[in-house]
Amino acid sequence: MCGIVGYIGDKNVYPILIGGLQRLEYRGYDSAGIAIFNEDLKVYKCKGKVSDLENYVASKDVHGTVGMGHTRWATHGEPNDTNAHPHTSMNGNFVLVHNGIIENYAEIKSDLIKKGIVFKTETDTEVLCNLIEFYYEKGENVSAELAVRMALSKIVGAYGIVVFCKNEPDKLIAARKGSPLVVGIGRGEYFLASDATPIVEYTDSMIYLNDEDVAIVSKDGLTLKTIQNDPVAFKVTKVDLSIGDLEKGNFEHFMLKEIFEQPKTIADTFRGRIKADQSDIVLGGLIDVFPKLLAADRIIIIGCGTSWHAALVGEYMIEEYARIPVEVEYASEFRYRKPILGEKDVVIAISQSGETADTLAALKMAKEMGATILGVCNVVGSSISRETDGGVYTHAGVEIGVASTKAFTAQVTVMIMLALKLAKEKGTIAPELYGSLIRDLAEVPGKVKSILVKHPHIKEIAEKYKDAVNALYLGRGYLFPVALEGALKLKEISYIHAEGYAAGEMKHGPIALVDTNLPVVVVAAKDSYYEKIVSNIQEVKARKGNIIAVVTEGDSHLKEMCNDVFEIPKSHPAIAPLLAIIPLQLFSYYIAVLRGCNVDQPRNLAKSVTVE
Ligand code: F6R
Repeated sequence: MCGIVGYIGDKNVYPILIGGLQRLEYRGYDSAGIAIFNEDLKVYKCKGKVSDLENYVASKDVHGTVGMGHTRWATHGEPNDTNAHPHTSMNGNFVLVHNGIIENYAEIKSDLIKKGIVFKTETDTEVLCNLIEFYYEKGENVSAELAVRMALSKIVGAYGIVVFCKNEPDKLIAARKGSPLVVGIGRGEYFLASDATPIVEYTDSMIYLNDEDVAIVSKDGLTLKTIQNDPVAFKVTKVDLSIGDLEKGNFEHFMLKEIFEQPKTIADTFRGRIKADQSDIVLGGLIDVFPKLLAADRIIIIGCGTSWHAALVGEYMIEEYARIPVEVEYASEFRYRKPILGEKDVVIAISQSGETADTLAALKMAKEMGATILGVCNVVGSSISRETDGGVYTHAGVEIGVASTKAFTAQVTVMIMLALKLAKEKGTIAPELYGSLIRDLAEVPGKVKSILVKHPHIKEIAEKYKDAVNALYLGRGYLFPVALEGALKLKEISYIHAEGYAAGEMKHGPIALVDTNLPVVVVAAKDSYYEKIVSNIQEVKARKGNIIAVVTEGDSHLKEMCNDVFEIPKSHPAIAPLLAIIPLQLFSYYIAVLRGCNVDQPRNLAKSVTVE
């Protein structure tokens, strides 16, 4: 969602801000703006892309060595020039960028209006900006920093903010609660950003702020304290991210690059965790909590979107092999539905970004209720990973395409390793099967490669179905989550309405949709459900639906029955999701490109949903 970048130092700030905003584009946004100080404060902002902002400021004065930039994903107030950030306070003393939602903004706003403060925008952010100015002007000897802390103590909600005060131009003030913010440390310069991507080309030394931290940065140094003014010790993290990771290279889109990276990213996920002789699995981040996992009455896996689909694979596998009851919950439901939780429960949050607001809040709630909480995150140092008692990083590398691809296969890889390790420690899996599943997992990267080389064929099939209005995706067992994920990929980037269903549910409703126009994508690899899914295919065929099936190589029977097939190599059913999703990712990608959609930044979507 919204992206923040800020800088104070000796460099010309404009290229840092614009370059940073370009790197933040992947998060999803509808308007962009910058504020630069050089004797006076200049604020430029507009609806649209960062390139629109660049055009807008082309003939303007952008000199200065301190400033902030923002990409806005609208929550309060429509996307337009006025509501774009940065926001200035009524008397122009403060300028501020904000990521998050201020829940009690209406109440504060009406109080401030009664005090004569005039608002220019419909945003919650302007309320915070004016509240800061109100405290600054009202008290005697109130510094900008004190005014910020006073205002934040009145705020209910989530924020990551950067604030500048015209009368104290030698500093930037940053704070976070619920929305991520990182401080990058340079030589005589500091960077502020909502994640590492916009500043990594300048520094790899970062401080991840914790909730209620306030950072005051100037050319001369950094002070970190709480909103209550207590000093905070900080930890500098070295971020392992290269510029190449943030660029498309020879690929047309980040999504395509990330799909093609999967042989490597899946291997990166299990590297060092599968023993060299493939006889065992070691999950270092879980060693301390493993006894709790083994003794758990129940494991609850929470997540949103694609991460929720990966959780479903985890549920099926842990229950089948480790025989521990598992529930999978949407984090957004779980946090509000008053679940029953106790000390014998283990809650695992799956999140690529590690910042999804609902997942983070659900996890905190589970912690308060006494459960052991674990994380499966991709972004190192993210809020969820720092909140948990233990966890596993997926090591998929930065994912920039809004549609999650390599993060999904990495999450599923972790679920498979976790299920197998639990099963082994519980003694619920035969040693031979344990060993052979590990070997199967080790073979996945090679098999994924063999699917990727067939991309021209997948593109041809995409051409046939690109004008579809609806699509139905069906799967059973381990391939049911793949059907859900395939449908999600298609709808989010091509805007074709797509439904994922458990194939057995088809006769309970979705079959009514089947006609000559409906593409029905059936994930039908050879497993114990095969005969049943073949019957489902017959049922669709009898109603003249167009069937595109993901089948196991050499399945001539389904090849004859279906209109089109994507073949995947033979594998154990529990491993098959890692293979079956690949052609479906490519299918959605090509359809979206053929329809002229913005694949990496689909409309209305944000990469990391940091507000609920
Ligand atoms: C879909 C997609 C989203 C995310 C969801 C959770 O392609 O990317 O559905 O999976 O927003 O995000 P994380 O995993 O960051 O918690």
